Amino acid sequence: MTASGDQVSVPRGAPSIVVHDVTHVYRGGVRALDGVSLELGPGLFGLLGPNGAGKSTLMRVLTTLLVPTSGRAEVMGIDVVREPEGVRRLVGYLPQEFGAWRIARVREVLDLLGRLSGLVDRAGRARRVDEVLELVGLADAARRRVKSLSGGMLRRLGVAQALLADPPVLIVDEPTVGLDPAERLRFRRLVAELGRERVILLSTHIVSDLGDACSDMAVIDRGRVLFRGAPRELIARARGRVFDAVVAVDQEARLPEAVEVVSRRPEGVGIRLRLVGPAAAMPNGAEAVDEPGFEEAYLAFMLDAGRPVELPVEARLEGGVE
Ligand SMILES: Nc1ncnc2c1ncn2[C@@H]1O[C@H](COP(=O)(O)OP(=O)(O)OP(=O)(O)O)[C@@H](O)[C@H]1O
Ligand SMILES: [Mg+2]
Repeated sequence: MTASGDQVSVPRGAPSIVVHDVTHVYRGGVRALDGVSLELGPGLFGLLGPNGAGKSTLMRVLTTLLVPTSGRAEVMGIDVVREPEGVRRLVGYLPQEFGAWRIARVREVLDLLGRLSGLVDRAGRARRVDEVLELVGLADAARRRVKSLSGGMLRRLGVAQALLADPPVLIVDEPTVGLDPAERLRFRRLVAELGRERVILLSTHIVSDLGDACSDMAVIDRGRVLFRGAPRELIARARGRVFDAVVAVDQEARLPEAVEVVSRRPEGVGIRLRLVGPAAAMPNGAEAVDEPGFEEAYLAFMLDAGRPVELPVEARLEGGVE
């Protein structure tokens, strides 16, 4: 059910979100979306891409905040440009820059936003606010001021407000930015849970955010879809491109440009490196990794696409990719 009380029905098997050849050029000339086509169904769909890829722009189009320069987009069969009101009733949205009123209390914020989403009945609204607080694990924080919440709690408040009208479609833009690892894990679980009965479109530039619950995804860069499929297909493509090698300390600096260092840790008098790149460019003794990780697969993919991902130095030193 939505805020208006309408039951939403789409033909069985029809994709829930359809984006067809959408281009958006901002005033000033930036081509943020360049012929994007995507179809996706129920469950969690991951939109992965580096900064400036066009993720937020696509989400603004789907939430009717932005009319695309050309192309067509539909949410549950409803056109975002021709029937924006209809689409708004179906979509809950957590914008990238969600803030909320800092001095207000958590419950007050949800009550107000609930009223704005059309929950006019006071008692019903109060019940719904309790339900969403419970759902996102903020029931104990209902009376706290927004400014006292941690980053993770604030994000969960953002999800709670997006869920108020119980929309069948949830669009969340970079929900885990700034969260610590525990908060991130918790958030991933929440999204996995919510994705069981909804369409969720989640954007991120952090591969591990997509987690096990994501079975369908796209990689976008410079306004174009570079990959569309299951994470395991991206991983399959990386076979033969990810290597493990132990090298002398001074050897790392001499690796060819075609080779990216994913992680490094000291081993004996040398260092053990995890490397991505073509086999021919690997140092002597490097061995191909049978089961590359999802992060490594993404790095290999972007390297092959001529768009190597810049890894922060800390990520390499810790031996992980964020
Ligand atoms: N309001 C705007 N006016 C002009 N250009 C914009 C505007 N918003 C975004 N852009 C540009 O459009 C491109 C895509 O931006 P967008 O915010 O959609 O990327 P993103 O994938 O969400 O990036 P991030 O990971 O940094 O959030 C970028 O080059 C950006 O600078
Ligand atoms: Mg963005």
